[in-house]
Parts: sequence; structure tokens; C-alpha cells
Amino acid sequence: MPKPHILQVASYPAWDQTALDAAYTTHRLEQNPDLTLIEAIATSGGAGVATEVIQACPNLKLIAIYGVGYDGIDLSLCAGRNIQVTNTPDVLTGDCADLAVGMMLAIARQIPQADYHARSGAWTKASFPLQRRVWGAKAGILGMGRIGQDVATRLAGFGMDIAYSARSEKPVPYTYIPDPTDLAAHADFLIVTAAATPETHHIINAATLKALGPDGFLINISRAANIDENALLDALESNQIAGAALDVFDAEPQINPRFAPLKNALLQPHHASATLQTRRAMGQLMRDNLTAYFAGQPLITPVI
Ligand code: 8YV
Repeated sequence: MPKPHILQVASYPAWDQTALDAAYTTHRLEQNPDLTLIEAIATSGGAGVATEVIQACPNLKLIAIYGVGYDGIDLSLCAGRNIQVTNTPDVLTGDCADLAVGMMLAIARQIPQADYHARSGAWTKASFPLQRRVWGAKAGILGMGRIGQDVATRLAGFGMDIAYSARSEKPVPYTYIPDPTDLAAHADFLIVTAAATPETHHIINAATLKALGPDGFLINISRAANIDENALLDALESNQIAGAALDVFDAEPQINPRFAPLKNALLQPHHASATLQTRRAMGQLMRDNLTAYFAGQPLITPVI
């Protein structure tokens, strides 16, 4: 039987590529960006698929996302064309929560700057300035899904007072504050874990940042679209908030040059799920969904 065709939107580590090449005829979009050449290709795997790519593939049956977020896919277009969509939830939850906590500690205790202070010899001339205590502080988690709950579990270990906003109250032992601006006013550390949807677009905006205030820190491991980046830059430049630790950006991998001089910003290259162990598990789950599809079995982690 001929191997099914896969259109890869992005590149994969060697271990995933070898496994994909063994089971499928793979076509790589980044090596073959001419959409007219891919019109006959049936299936696709990747983190986000541009609408033009979906439209250029009339036989497309399945989009297998290498990631949990599906904001990069037009789901109504897929539903209308009976294109199924899968993602890789759960396997990356712990890593995303780990990075959120690491970023919170790093921005509050200025860990990158402290490293430089020790490394550069500045320590021989002056002590490193006193920084902000984290344990026992008030955490506000925006989004209480799988990742939000894993962040909260970790923060409970820091003795933090935990509150959250979500579309509805969840069966969790934390204080529910429905309005994100009220949550920001309450929190010392506002951690955004919510999936990006039209409803959460710029849910963190000038008013939310004002409420967070000059002692408040923002941590974002979700999607840039959840934050009004220009309002955030204004707030950082004017010290309207204490700082922001960000794993995601509007134009990533390009970063707005206004971020570069900001000492109160900690910038990360969208790597919350990027450990060897988790990326292997994500690749496996993505392939298991493909295998299930081609075997006519129920998808393991369907989005639609
Ligand atoms: C992925 C992510 O690793 O899962 C997501 O939605 O943002 C990341 O964890 C990334 O999309 C991989 O391409």
C-alpha cells in the first residue's frame, strides 16, 4: 500500500522526522513554499496552519498540531470542510507550569542580572540590590485549565495566596475572581495561562495593567494575543508595573525593539514546552493521532 502523504508545516527533531519518514511520504512546506505544488497533498502536521495552506489542499483530511494551542487554525473553516484537528495536550502541561514558575522567580529575584553581577566582577565593588520576595505573595492566575492548575499546584508549595479568573468557577481550592482587572488589582504576580480565543484577545490591556500597579509583575506563557503588547510596553517604559516575564510575542520570533532596553522585562523564546522529554512525548502523541486516523480508529486527542 502506498504511504499516505503528510505536509509538514514546520521542521521536526531528527527522531520525529525519522519516524514520520518511515510511515509517510513527507512534504516540507519550508522547503517547498509554492502552494501550487502541494494542492494534491492530503494531510498535514504542524503547530499552526495558515488559511492559505488549508485552502491550497483540497484533499486535506486531518491537521495534527504539534502543540496544545489551536489558535493558529481556523476551526470553522476546518469544520466546514470536515477536516479533523488534533493537538498534544497533557504531555506538555508540567513543562509549561515549570517555566511559568521559573520566569516568576527570575523576574522577581532578578536572576539573570544577579548572574551578570557575579560573573562580571561587579560583586567585588557592590552587593547585588535587594529584590522582591516571592513566597507568600498573592498570585493571580488568568485561565484555570490544565496548565493554570499545574501552575497553582506549584505556587501552593511557595505558600502563595492563589486567586484566578476563568470563564466559570472551577472545582479548585483557590479564590475565584471573575473579572481579570479585579484579579490584576488583587495580585502581586499575574500569570496568564489562558488559551487564546476571540474572547481573550487583549484581555490584558491598559486598564488591567493599571490595576496590576507599580508593584505587580506580569508573567505570560500563553499567547501574545492575550495581551495588548503596546499597552504593556507603555506600562513597562513608565514603570506603571514592576515588570513582565514573557515567553510569547506578537511578531515572534521577531521582538518589538522597544523591549530591548527594558530592565524590567524578562524575555524568553517561546520555549515553555521545549524539553527533550516533552518534545519527544509531543511528537509521539502527534504521530499516534496520525496512526489512529489512518487506521480508521478514534482520534486520541481531537480538537474537532
Ligand atoms: C509548542 C505551544 O511547543 O503547545 C503550544 O501551544 O505553544 C508550544 O508548547 C509549540 O507550538 C511547538 O511548535
